[in-house]
Amino acid sequence: MGSAGDYTAAYARSVHDPVAFWGEAAQLVDWVEPPTTVVDDSNPPFYRWFSDGRLNTCFNAVDRHVEAGHGDRTALIYDSAVAEGSRSLTYRELRDEVALFAGVLASLGVSAGDRVIIYMPMVPEALIAMLATARLGAVHSVVFGGFAPNELAIRIDDATPTVVVSASCGIEGARVIEYKPMLDKALELAEHKPTATVILQRPQVHADMGFIDHDWVESMSAATPHDCVAVAATDPLYILYTSGTTGKPKGIVRDNGGHAVALTWSMPNIYGVNAGEVFWAASDVGWVVGHSYIVYAPLLAGATTVLYEGKPVGTPDAGAFWRVVAEHKVNALFTAPTAFRAIKKEDPNAELLAGHDISSLRTLFLAGERLDPETYHWASQHLNIPIVDNWWQTETGWPIAASPRGFDELPIKPGSPSLAMPGYIVDVLDETGQLLDASVDGNIAIKLPLPPGTLPTLWNDDQRYIDSYLSVFPGYYATGDGGNVDADGYIYVMGRTDDVINVAGHRLSTGSMEAVVATHPAVAECAVIGVLDALKGQVPRAFVVLKSGVEIDPSVLQAEVVAAIRDQIGPVAALKSVVVVPALPKTRSGKILRRTMRGIADGRPEAPPSTIDDISVLDRIRPLLEQSGE
Ligand code: COA
Ligand code: AMP
Repeated sequence: MGSAGDYTAAYARSVHDPVAFWGEAAQLVDWVEPPTTVVDDSNPPFYRWFSDGRLNTCFNAVDRHVEAGHGDRTALIYDSAVAEGSRSLTYRELRDEVALFAGVLASLGVSAGDRVIIYMPMVPEALIAMLATARLGAVHSVVFGGFAPNELAIRIDDATPTVVVSASCGIEGARVIEYKPMLDKALELAEHKPTATVILQRPQVHADMGFIDHDWVESMSAATPHDCVAVAATDPLYILYTSGTTGKPKGIVRDNGGHAVALTWSMPNIYGVNAGEVFWAASDVGWVVGHSYIVYAPLLAGATTVLYEGKPVGTPDAGAFWRVVAEHKVNALFTAPTAFRAIKKEDPNAELLAGHDISSLRTLFLAGERLDPETYHWASQHLNIPIVDNWWQTETGWPIAASPRGFDELPIKPGSPSLAMPGYIVDVLDETGQLLDASVDGNIAIKLPLPPGTLPTLWNDDQRYIDSYLSVFPGYYATGDGGNVDADGYIYVMGRTDDVINVAGHRLSTGSMEAVVATHPAVAECAVIGVLDALKGQVPRAFVVLKSGVEIDPSVLQAEVVAAIRDQIGPVAALKSVVVVPALPKTRSGKILRRTMRGIADGRPEAPPSTIDDISVLDRIRPLLEQSGE
């Protein structure tokens, strides 16, 4: 692949002349009405990209490749390690299925602007449902299958969907997880009532169908294909809920125009992948990495995307990834560091690589959590290809920092996701908003306006968007991440500065876990913190103070709290340990010192703040914290 030249020059142009840079990138997309405005900055702090343009994202991801004569090219390879084998769809087949499912949704009353919730396992129909929603100019909201009915209900009430699309089951290793009873429970809990559901019956489980439920196959056979509906570039394409510091998830809004432009640009320029090549993001469509790099970006670029249902280990073994790469001649693989830590744990010398020809693989991209240098070196040594750490968030939708593969090769520094991507001006600030010197840790913030493709606001909540991200450091978007930038501009992201944790690349709120733990009748107060874990990066631990006079067997308490978390949030929360402590350390104003507790548990104690109420509390619980670390 040719190089787009010197990255530093491209970056400089993106920040000094964003109108020229993104105006040019906009030409990568097919518009129904091309935009004449690149960025509308008339209503700060809200910025809208390509505000007078009109387009359809599904047309750009699917139809235009067929119209350009590439209908026979493979769009999607579905490979399941746990279900009934593989299948692939050409761009023409994908267009036909998506158009038909758009017809199904339209017949159930979905039209432009309406919401559709998708609660599905990793099957092609999940992707078809997303694209079909986009085809109608409607707004999808995909909910990760590892969330419990209560979390699904919260999202149903916030997004108020017309239709919910789901399946009879997901498959987790050797276990079949029934989805339909969870959906039924969520619909019972939710105040908002969708008019219909569409259920994909999988061979493993037959779901009982009720009055509002429609069978996927039957609906498809009765449907007529629906064409693409043009929408404003600023209209929402999807809402993706992500964890914030409180129990209520944030509905991240993605627009159509900026998203299509940024993601189309990112494919050759950041990921070094072009039309006809094979890209595999081993994530889940329920997370942002899945939205952007399983579904939209590879298809917008006319590449082949691999949809893999299974885990990196255990299905059948830690060689699963190598088999998929070899069998489908994958050119670039994207996953979370935790997947590689899992493989390394099972197969430390990468012996399972032998017997798989993975010579097609040019690059490994890792994101979703901090890439620890040990995992970086292990992957680098055994794969012998560039390992590219990239840093981003559900909010941004595409990398804030990476080592862009479409340009002249740049040195990689282990531990750093490299340089800021176009349009992102990344600064490190102290608590008062003052710029810090190179290599000094502080709060990582990005200057406004953020580039195209990033969140324009939160769903139905402009004020929360301002309060959560924009009011902390005026003129900046606060990332919630801490770290530093070195003298060469390399960014080091060390971890969250808030109560969000990252468990196996899954973003979770300790605040929402605390809300559940606090409902246990024996618990007076509690703190949930993320402690270091060799496999998952971080895992949550609950520290609880019992109500006075209450006696309970600690193992019973733990079992009950763990069950409550699974029931209310879902298995993905992965809370396994509950520790009873005599008291929780607090500041004089009553704020629990979670950060200090985390530091002790992780073996890097810091001096307690001078505002601490009672230093002896910290000393009393120190051994319990130390034991709760790795
Ligand atoms: N539907 C239902 N349950 C799900 C689920 C889904 N889609 N996804 C996860 N779960 C369940 C798991 O079965 C597990 O349940 P258990 O406690 O009963 O065993 C629980 O949620 C925790 O899942 P997870 O954190 O994924 O742990 P794991 O032990 O099953 O697997 C890894 C660990 C590291 C192998 C796995 O997390 C992984 O491959 N992660 C890397 C890739 C990735 O998904 N990244 C996301 C962002 S890029
Ligand atoms: P999510 O919104 O689920 O993608 O999670 C975003 C968070 O994951 C970020 O705010 C970071 O804390 C963390 N993260 C993602 N990628 C990286 C990375 N490459 N290095 C360090 N942290 C990362």
